[in-house]
Amino acid sequence: MKKILVINGPNLNMLGIREPDIYGKRDYNSLCEYIKENASSLGLEAEIFQSNHEGEIVDKIQSAYRVFDGIIINPAAYTHTSVAILDALKAVGIDAVEVHLSDVNTREEFRQISYAGLACKEHFIGLGFEGYKKALEWFCK
Ligand code: DQA
Repeated sequence: MKKILVINGPNLNMLGIREPDIYGKRDYNSLCEYIKENASSLGLEAEIFQSNHEGEIVDKIQSAYRVFDGIIINPAAYTHTSVAILDALKAVGIDAVEVHLSDVNTREEFRQISYAGLACKEHFIGLGFEGYKKALEWFCK
């Protein structure tokens, strides 16, 4: 069974409360349930991790080395700022897929750059929760 680590960055724990017009009305627990259900129906083992702290995300990526077969990452705001997360993904060399709930490409200019995305093999952007399902499916190809 492939082991997939799902990493969610800052403020994603506020789903349902934060800017529902952009991120939807469903909360973070619903997202976790959605990911777990889809992983199990695809025959994948998924661990979900959320942090509001850049260093904790770097530590988690490093701890995935030789443990996980894949990483699905929504680095949230750190997408657009964190070279440390990019370097951590490159360091472990684990296949990674980038997910964003909203369509960052059509939002503010500062969201147009994705550092973590440079280390990802696939990107599902602006599909809401479904982006995570597509990312899980990618690991079944
Ligand atoms: C996000 C998009 C980011 O620009 C933003 O900072 C987030 C969430 C998304 O999933 O759409 O926090 O990663």
